[in-house]
Parts: sequence; structure tokens; C-alpha cells
Amino acid sequence: MFYSNSVRNPLQEKLAFELGEISGYPDYHAFFVNSGAEANENALKLASFHTGKKRVIAFRKAFHGRTSAAVEVTDNSRITAPINENQHVYFANPDLEEVACELQKGDVCAVIIEGISGVGGIQVPSDDFLIGLREMTQRHHVVLILDEIQSGYGRTGRFFAHQWAGIRPDLITVAKGIANGFPFSALLVSEAFSAQKGMLGTTFGGNHLGCAAALSVIQILREEHLIENALQTGTYLKNKLSSLASPLIREVRGRGLMLGIEFSVPVAGIREALLFEHHIFTGFSGNNVLRILPPLCVSAQEADRFAEAIESVLKKEGRQDGTKR
Ligand SMILES: Cc1ncc(COP(=O)(O)O)c(C=O)c1O
Repeated sequence: MFYSNSVRNPLQEKLAFELGEISGYPDYHAFFVNSGAEANENALKLASFHTGKKRVIAFRKAFHGRTSAAVEVTDNSRITAPINENQHVYFANPDLEEVACELQKGDVCAVIIEGISGVGGIQVPSDDFLIGLREMTQRHHVVLILDEIQSGYGRTGRFFAHQWAGIRPDLITVAKGIANGFPFSALLVSEAFSAQKGMLGTTFGGNHLGCAAALSVIQILREEHLIENALQTGTYLKNKLSSLASPLIREVRGRGLMLGIEFSVPVAGIREALLFEHHIFTGFSGNNVLRILPPLCVSAQEADRFAEAIESVLKKEGRQDGTKR
């Protein structure tokens, strides 16, 4: 895992090239680190270096990690310690006028937003909102950071979720699937940024083993057409879930294999029944949202099995009638 940083690692160069090609960002630089939070820390730091400013606009319910700047732009007071409360951040609603008001103050270095807000309950920013944000940040010379740590790497059927809106951010952060479970992450940096020696650094980031794992992931994504599968099977699953005629389902939302089902009742009992009766493990957000992020290789048969399991849980527990457990 470790070799002196004084020695060039050719796997880093190969990975930067392959990641640029597969993601549609061949002209961006890559900086490899170890975790999602670390990628966001470096993105925020780079934005601040670049603009000489220190205020950030983040969004309500955002999650960007648990370390100092990353947790400060995370909208969750339970995981923010007093040492992280440095008044750098304004939490906006997804409202372009509100963002414009803050940008006009002239002291903002970055706007950070998730491609799709995951922990916040699978909230998909509209294409128009992302396009407006891009246009506005460009006009104010503010860095736009897209956190694609949960929504990227093919999950939504495009390499990055923001590519559905056709925008190009200044900085993009990726982690999670990048090395299929091996601790690894990356910051993609537009060519508008000039690197200076020592500006960013890391001891273990971009190590040989991580690079080899990340290169294998890209190879498998291509060979097994997993991004296409995320779109196809994700759309199939979303349609199936949307057609479940349960009054307890308020909304099915998301893109590709990043789906959320919002219920009118708490999901704790539903998750428990899915796990113990059907052996299906699901995520959640808040009290009422099931978070569904299966592996990108999930099949249509497995999607059927999941939809049938949800249907049977809702029926069995009397939830079809609105009876609470
Ligand atoms: C959108 C998003 N950003 C950042 C992070 C932090 O990543 P890590 O836990 O690797 O630091 C996460 C983790 O869940 C995430 O979902």
C-alpha cells in the first residue's frame, strides 16, 4: 500500500487517464486520496486557495462527510462538534434566488452540492436548478463543486448524476465505488486551476494497490456494461415500484440504481420485515424513506424479487389498508 511519494507511480497516471476517459472529463486533472470526506476537504480547500475567499454555500439536508470542512458543509448538527462551527457556511434551499442573494455578498469561494442527495432522502436537483447554479457561479467566479461520492460512478445510468443536466462543474469528488470497497477517492479538477507544489498532499492517497483496484473497477464497468445496466434495471425497478398500488407509498424517486421510496409511515418495521423475512437489506433516510442502492450488477430478476418482497410486506402487515404496526 505504501511507496515513497518521491517516486512517480505510473498506475496513478494510468488511472487518471482511464477515469478521465470513462467519465467524460479527459481534460480534468485528478488528485487521489483515501475517502469521500478527504476528497471534499481538498475540494473546499482548493476552491478557497483559488478564490482567496472562505464562505461556502451548501444545501439543506446535505451530507459531505465527517471531517472539519466536510462536516461544516453537512447539514446535521448532531455530527458537528463546536470546533467545526466556524460560520463559513450558508445552508440554502434549492432555490436559485436564495443562492443568488448569498452570492451577491461577494465573499463566497464555493457552492457544493450532491449529484443526488443520498443521506438527505434521494432528493434529485432539477436539471434547471443545476443549470442555473452553473450559470450563476460562473458569473460570480465562484467554484462549483459536485459531490458525486454516492451518486457517481455509473449509479444513475450516467457516469455522474450531474451529467443528466449537461453541466460541467469546476471540481468533482468521487469515492465509494471507485475501488469497489478499497479505501480510495478522487478529486477531479478543471484545467482552470493551476497546481502549485505542496498545495495539496497525501501520504497514502493514490497508492499502488488502490490504483490497481480502481483500474480493475473501470475495466469491469466497461466489460460488464454496468452503467447501462444501472439505467436499464434502475428504470425497470422504478417503474415496478411506482406501479405498486399502496396508499402507504407517497413517492418513488431517484435515477438509475439510486432510488428512494417515501412512505407515509415510518420505515423501521418495513426494513425489519424485508431483512428477516426476505433477507433483503435496505438503507433509509430519516423516518419515512427507504434508500435503495443495489450493486450495479443487479439483475431484472432480483429487481422483481425486491418489488414482490415490498408488496408482500405491505400486504402482510396490513399496511395496504393503512394499518400501522
Ligand atoms: C454524498 C457523500 N459525500 C461524502 C461522503 C463521505 O464519504 P466517506 O465516508 O468516504 O468519508 C458520503 C458518505 O456517505 C456521501 O454519501
